[in-house]
Amino acid sequence: MDKESLEQARELVENANNIVILTGAGISAESGIPTFRGDQGLWKDIRPEDIATPEAFAKDPKFVWEWYDLRRQTIIEAEPNPGHYALVELENKKEGFTLITQNIDGLHKRSGNKNIIEMHGNIWQMRCTKCGHIYFDYEVPLKQLPPSCKKCGEMTRPNVVWFNEIIPMSTIDACVIAIDNCDVMLIVGTSGVVEPAASMGLMAVRTGKKVIEINLDTTPGTGLYHLSLRGKSGEILPEFYKHTKGYN
Ligand code: OAD
Ligand code: ZN
Repeated sequence: MDKESLEQARELVENANNIVILTGAGISAESGIPTFRGDQGLWKDIRPEDIATPEAFAKDPKFVWEWYDLRRQTIIEAEPNPGHYALVELENKKEGFTLITQNIDGLHKRSGNKNIIEMHGNIWQMRCTKCGHIYFDYEVPLKQLPPSCKKCGEMTRPNVVWFNEIIPMSTIDACVIAIDNCDVMLIVGTSGVVEPAASMGLMAVRTGKKVIEINLDTTPGTGLYHLSLRGKSGEILPEFYKHTKGYN
């Protein structure tokens, strides 16, 4: 990795009072949870429109649930990695800290971060298709597919955001406010091709924030950002807090 860029990034992170982190599937890759794109990605075996859309669910809810049930099995066996824990250290040190994640795996919560915006929902939450009741359910594997609502007995769906669905405006607003108020934004392990997350780095750049990308590869945003660190998030992120002021 480029030592000079790492040093510059470390300094920016150290001097920031308000920081926003945007994460994608890459941060959980070192925990053994597959990403979506790339050679080993989930979208290699199945097209997103056949599984992660309301249309796919309407056509065959059991088929969609079986896929989510398998993902729940993978995720429950996974542990947060040093990248996740580094973000907990950062939150403890910063005046303002917001973690925006596209991940539905809940690992940021498990590692101990508090101020999290789960833009795409959470795979451990059920949402009733009839009465709208939302609740956590950690049963793995699920005994009944599709699962029935605890409250009214009707069919539930995973409380995640699918393609062709709209993210609540209040969620987007919380992201925009956090980005508006930050000094530095870290974009970690996301391919940057799914909106609205994809444009959040650009929004930060346009309003004068320093944006640092951490990714194994380049992304469409790489050229726009202040710094881009190539490598594993589980190795790069711990470099920040280790050298941050006040760390013993
Ligand atoms: P992707 O699979 O599109 O991208 C993962 C990114 O992480 C890639 O850019 C990889 O280079 C990078 N990466 C992989 N391992 C890494 C590591 N150890 N350290 C650092 N970077 C690493 O996943 P997302 O960008 O999260 O949405 O995908 C965005 C959305 O598309 C997902 O939330 C999901 C998906 O379809 C829905 O299902 C609605
Ligand atoms: Zn219900």
